[in-house]
Amino acid sequence: MKVKKLKILLKKIFKKYGLKDNHATISSNALINAELVGAYGHGISRLKMYCDRLSKKVINPEPKIKIKKISNSISYIDANNSIGFVSADIGIKTAIKNAKKTGIGLVAIKNSGHYGLSGYYAEQAVKKNLVVMIYTNAPPAVAPHGALKSLFGTNPICFGTPTGSKIPFILDTSISLINRGKIRVAARYNKKIPKGVALDKFGNPTTNAKKALKGVQLPIAGYRGSGLAWMVDILSGVLTGGNHAGKVKDPFEDFTGPQNIGHLFFTFKTNLFQKNYNQRIKENIRTIKKLPKSKGVKEILYPGQNKFKRFKENSKKEIKVPKIIKKDLKLLLK
Ligand SMILES: NC(=O)c1ccc[n+]([C@@H]2O[C@H](COP(=O)([O-])OP(=O)(O)OC[C@H]3O[C@@H](n4cnc5c(N)ncnc54)[C@H](O)[C@@H]3O)[C@@H](O)[C@H]2O)c1
Repeated sequence: MKVKKLKILLKKIFKKYGLKDNHATISSNALINAELVGAYGHGISRLKMYCDRLSKKVINPEPKIKIKKISNSISYIDANNSIGFVSADIGIKTAIKNAKKTGIGLVAIKNSGHYGLSGYYAEQAVKKNLVVMIYTNAPPAVAPHGALKSLFGTNPICFGTPTGSKIPFILDTSISLINRGKIRVAARYNKKIPKGVALDKFGNPTTNAKKALKGVQLPIAGYRGSGLAWMVDILSGVLTGGNHAGKVKDPFEDFTGPQNIGHLFFTFKTNLFQKNYNQRIKENIRTIKKLPKSKGVKEILYPGQNKFKRFKENSKKEIKVPKIIKKDLKLLLK
């Protein structure tokens, strides 16, 4: 389907489920972006889930979002259980505005929901020539190191910076070996997941996606990954007033109430300490790219380069809408 056509369709669906025109635009754009960067687990495969939550009012279709100014740099947002895309959009724009004014912008959000890809918001700050760090927590999927039960989400860690070229550096990574969206997509299509990324509910390794969803996902780098997940839970949950310690509800399975997710957006100017940041980062990247390459590697990439390329290529093509999603679209438009 053509990008433009799909965007119109998504917007129509979001509006049918109660979102205001501009909130429907923000949400549709975020889903389309996920498709274009190839993050299919965060794209239109989640549309039905958002609509189900909107119709059960566990996402508030008409939120009264409050932005409290703590200082010229710091803002605190109560998202009133809006769809996560909308609160994150306000969050990053506020963090950018604050940093442009004072050099540093810090925005905490509570009572939000799943907002998709952290990198999508990081890009906005990098385009304004700012360094950015973004944290969000997510429903239990990963067992803390030494525990038998999952509690941490796949809690992504995101860092972005301008590079002096048009391709931003954006490290945007789950703390799990693969992200949960990929496992959900595999479960829906009855496909296997890679070996060694998840255990079933009995603690045995599994490649069965459905069993993995009922068991635990494994963190990157053992106890180090578990520590990073914990840090993200503290920064986006404990600090912000959002849910934490395993209390974020699974958006696909738990409709007993809103998710109350927290997010943290931190932005700052590149010239706080050195005036020639662009020159310095270009030199940094150039040095690393010139290193001898491992076997089979044509180019040493920096984080974000692969997604930028995919976005450019995919923007020229139509978006593939799998049969199962076409069914969702039909059902949601009825
Ligand atoms: N909102 C949520 O609750 C939630 C939870 C988990 C993940 N997510 C999102 O899911 C997305 C996918 O996460 P993921 O962990 O699957 O990402 P990934 O494994 O695809 O990529 C992780 C990072 O590695 C970089 N990278 C990939 N290949 C590279 C290479 N060859 N050389 C250098 N760098 C390379 C990517 O640019 C990216 O920054 C992220 O955007 C994340 O924000 C969201």
